[in-house]
Amino acid sequence: MSNAETAVAARSQYVDFWNNVLVPKFVRWRHILVDGLTLHSAKVFPSLDVRKGDKVVDAGCGFGDTAIELARLVGPSGSVLALDCCEGFLEYGRRDAKAAGIDNITFLEADVQTYPFKPVHDFCFSRFGTQFFENPVAGLRNMRASLKPGGTMTMIVWRGINDNPWLGSAKQVVLKYLPPPGDSAQTCGPGPFSMADTGVVTKQLEIAGYRDIAFEQVDAQVFVGKDLDDAVGFQLAIGPAGEVFREAGKAADERREEIADALKAELAKYQRPNGVMMDSSSWKVTAKNPK
Ligand SMILES: C[S@@+](CC[C@H](N)C(=O)[O-])C[C@H]1O[C@@H](n2cnc3c(N)ncnc32)[C@H](O)[C@@H]1O
Repeated sequence: MSNAETAVAARSQYVDFWNNVLVPKFVRWRHILVDGLTLHSAKVFPSLDVRKGDKVVDAGCGFGDTAIELARLVGPSGSVLALDCCEGFLEYGRRDAKAAGIDNITFLEADVQTYPFKPVHDFCFSRFGTQFFENPVAGLRNMRASLKPGGTMTMIVWRGINDNPWLGSAKQVVLKYLPPPGDSAQTCGPGPFSMADTGVVTKQLEIAGYRDIAFEQVDAQVFVGKDLDDAVGFQLAIGPAGEVFREAGKAADERREEIADALKAELAKYQRPNGVMMDSSSWKVTAKNPK
């Protein structure tokens, strides 16, 4: 086996799942994932601890839109190292950065939990990336290893499913028709709500060596579809409802039409002139690498 093959063989099952199952789905639903989630992080960006000239990491950068925004904030004298474990996402980031005339971002395929960072960065950021780490403490500790002494880490993570009807209400509907995923379900990692509990996350961050840990609640409406068909397709493909649907296999396909109708009836409550808009809630978590 070559070195490259060994590295691929050692990839975690979650990283494999992202690459094999979720990349094609995320690409299909990119208009919702990028435009929808940007409505959420737009509330956070103005208060980020980032200055002109800073060196910044974007951990689990996905399609790269936050990396591009960070690159604008640090300006040409600063730089952004944008990491994701899926090359299939990074090619969008490289393309969009080029089209925007931005050349201070390095997009790199890597596992954030193990990448050998140099401690040269002022700021380490992640929007909805850290919740999927196989080992959250190892991942958070490694993100801290990217920071200079005194550097800041900010991650945005979802609050609980009940605080996020944009994901929770569709799951409730689908569960009326299909069983919950079993213990052996394939997954993308601990999941979108794995960092919802502030007590648990504070402990994880303390063990990972951070100080001055603070949580700020961020509430925003997110865009979940251009129209009802778009919103139903999205919910059946991605997130907790999508997981129930995918894991049910043939049973789900057989009942697709009635499930889609029930979802449409639920999502119709959230239809607005600019699309389907639903409530979401996250924590902006900030912590420092000690000096
Ligand atoms: C929900 S997406 C968020 C993407 C992007 N930050 C955004 O807000 O649009 C989670 C991202 O984390 C990446 N990811 C998950 N585990 C990772 C790991 N161990 N190392 C690097 N990236 C990871 C996934 O490939 C995916 O792009």
